[in-house]
Order: sequence, then C-alpha cells, then structure tokens
Amino acid sequence: MTTLRERLSGMSGGRVLDVATEGGRFIDQLKGAFGDIDEVVGIDISDKGFDEARKRFEGDSVRFVVMDAADLEYPDESFDAVTMAAGMHHLDDVPAVLSQMMRVLKPGGTFVLREMYRDDQNEKQKTDVLQHDWYAKIDRMLGLPHHPTLTRQKIIDYVKALGLSRYESQKHLCEDCPRSKGETIDKEISEMNEHIAKVKGHPQYDQLMAERDRIVVRLRAVGISCQAALDIVGVK
Ligand SMILES: C[S@@+](CC[C@H](N)C(=O)[O-])C[C@H]1O[C@@H](n2cnc3c(N)ncnc32)[C@H](O)[C@@H]1O
Repeated sequence: MTTLRERLSGMSGGRVLDVATEGGRFIDQLKGAFGDIDEVVGIDISDKGFDEARKRFEGDSVRFVVMDAADLEYPDESFDAVTMAAGMHHLDDVPAVLSQMMRVLKPGGTFVLREMYRDDQNEKQKTDVLQHDWYAKIDRMLGLPHHPTLTRQKIIDYVKALGLSRYESQKHLCEDCPRSKGETIDKEISEMNEHIAKVKGHPQYDQLMAERDRIVVRLRAVGISCQAALDIVGVK
C-alpha cells in the first residue's frame, strides 16, 4: 500500500490551498509529504481551530483565513495544489466546493483529497461510523455543517465528475493512533458525555442518550478504530 507521503514525495507543492483546514493537522502531513512547499493558505468557514493552527506553524509561511469553500475569494488558477482532508462530509454542498477547488487550481496542478468512508469497514471501524454519525447529528442540531460519512463509491463519483486529467485512489488506514490501539475508550466516553450535554433539553435528547448508551456498550465490547479513508491524488 503506497502512502500519501510516498506518492507526494519528490513533487513540488508550490502554493497550496488547504480547504476545511480546522487546526491545520493535514497541512502538517503535507509539509512532510511534498518535496517542497512555498506557501500554504488554510481556509475554514469557522476560526475555532485557528489558535491551535497558528501556534503549530509559528514562523512558517502558513496562513489561516476564514472563508466559505463554496465561494473561494481567490482568482482562477492561483494555486499549484489544492487539498482537503476529512472535510467532504462536513460540506453542505460538495460539488460547489470541489468546483471552486478546481477553479483556483492551475492546469497541471495537484489535487489531494483524504476522506473517510462508511462502507466496507471491520467491526471496530463500524463503531467509529456509528459514533461519528451520532456526533454529526448533534452538530447539526447545534447548527454546524456535519453529515454522515459517504460511501467509498460516492467519494469516487464526486472526484470522477471533476474532469481531472488523471487520478489515483488508495485506501488509507490509521493504524498507529492511540485510538486504533484501544487506548482511548474512557476518553471517548467522557467526550461523548460532554458533547451530548450541549443539547440537554432538546426534544431529541432522550433518543440521543439511548443511542449514546448503545455506542458505549459497543465501545467496551468491540472497541473502536478510525474508519478507513480514501487518499486521492490527481492532476488537473
Ligand atoms: C473535521 S474538520 C477538518 C479537519 C482538518 N482538515 C484537519 O486536517 O484536521 C472539518 C472542517 O470543515 C469545515 N467546513 C465545513 N463547511 C465548510 C465550508 N463550506 N467552507 C470551509 N470549511 C468548512 C468545518 O468548519 C471544520 O473545521
């Protein structure tokens, strides 16, 4: 299995736009993956991750800007690479965002997408799918854009429709994280408790609490590991 790092190594990132950047964690991986990078702009509709992001890249040529990815305020063909990780299922209008990413990408530029998918998962990963959908439901009740993860085929269909001159997709597994090693169960439960407390009093609260209880039983009985993702690298 070729990693994203192996696929991007030796390639020049140039001027990079990272969409739905949140705390900039994917930028960290891109910086270690591309052979070199001139500048990165991370955009997100919310600035909630920007303090963390700015601390992470202090002194680097990385900037963070609040912007709706469905309405990018950049000229056509102004980036050498456009990237997005774990962002697709947060978008209310996926085709609009992908078409904006293509518009600002130079001909011959690099398109990078990492997105987890919901089908074809093992039992531990299925716990993550259920837990993720539960989080997304609460986020939507709070007015935040967050949807169930997509199927693998749906992600590929969105990318096929972009008219990239070529692209390759590859399964990505998060194998080394503490979660996949089973070290996070108690933390997962306390984070779920904190999240559901945000919607206390909502008419759907009792139903969400019953779902929470079922997920907690599963967390303890089956465990959890991150959903598999697709890494897609393409050329405009
Ligand atoms: C799970 S986070 C992405 C994680 C991030 N890429 C990383 O490397 O860790 C999803 C992000 O999508 C953002 N988002 C949702 N809709 C958006 C939009 N229309 N434009 C820009 N960002 C958006 C959310 O605010 C959220 O920060």
